[in-house]
Amino acid sequence: MTKIVKFSASRIHESLAEGLRAIADYRNEEDLDPAEREAFLRECEVAVISGGTKVGDDYLSLMPSLRMIGDFGVGYDGVDVEKLNARGIKASHTPGVLNDDVADLGFLLLGAVARRIAEGHVFATAGLWDTQGFPLATSLCGMKVGIAGMGRIGRELAARCAAFKMEISYFCRHERPDLPYRFFASLEEMAAHCDALVMVVPATPETRGCVNAQVLRALGREGILVNIARGAVVDTEALIAALESRSILGAGLDVFDHEPHIDPRLRGLPNVVLAPHVGSATERTRRGMGMMVLENIKAYLAGKPLLNPIPGTQA
Ligand code: 8YV
Repeated sequence: MTKIVKFSASRIHESLAEGLRAIADYRNEEDLDPAEREAFLRECEVAVISGGTKVGDDYLSLMPSLRMIGDFGVGYDGVDVEKLNARGIKASHTPGVLNDDVADLGFLLLGAVARRIAEGHVFATAGLWDTQGFPLATSLCGMKVGIAGMGRIGRELAARCAAFKMEISYFCRHERPDLPYRFFASLEEMAAHCDALVMVVPATPETRGCVNAQVLRALGREGILVNIARGAVVDTEALIAALESRSILGAGLDVFDHEPHIDPRLRGLPNVVLAPHVGSATERTRRGMGMMVLENIKAYLAGKPLLNPIPGTQA
């Protein structure tokens, strides 16, 4: 029976685990006892990871039989495509199925920060309304929003922003003349033009730390940053400094540098709304993602091309 392992840092849906148990000798890495771990990994043909899970040489060197990776996520920043190709390892991911939920969360985080929803909740539940007034918030209507990354999720986000009467700009590698939004070739220039910046770019060496001190300064005192991409695209030190000094208004963050650990300085700030990486975390979407991973693994096991190969890998 084919051996399949789920790496311990990865989170998947139980329906995927059930599906894999039905067709293979499937184990969670964390459930393998130390004596069997080495042998199991050595013979393992398929690995299941989630978006962003690092698949470094530490794993690859332990897994000479590895032939396929099923990524339970659309992001594949944790895998090195060239290394996989060099070793003849196929890899699939889950594009499309999570667009709506991730775009929803980006929009909701923006709304939550702009309308001070988390602050209002703390204020109301603490009973402060009995004696104090609550500060005014920022309108979504008319807000200039800049979306960094105009792929599938970025376009869904833009549609939501348009429905709320926002003015939309975008930044990405290539201008998309088919889209009715203003294009910026510079993230800093877009930040200077906008009231809110939403990060949807993939984490790559080029986007690492691209939201830096200059971009945050350009965003300005009334500016809001939302990150639903990866923690790595934001310079966390610069963001904390900007939030602490109130040189931006606030931030809505779903992703962090060292997940699941969140920098305690971020946790203590009133002008942030934090989420535990839940962009795709609805029952419907996580089931759909699980189904996609399973179908790709079944295709691999049947000797057929993968249905959703990671770009740049062999199907
Ligand atoms: C998931 C993600 O949270 O799709 C991605 O790249 O990061 C998310 O959808 C993750 O893969 C599940 O743990």
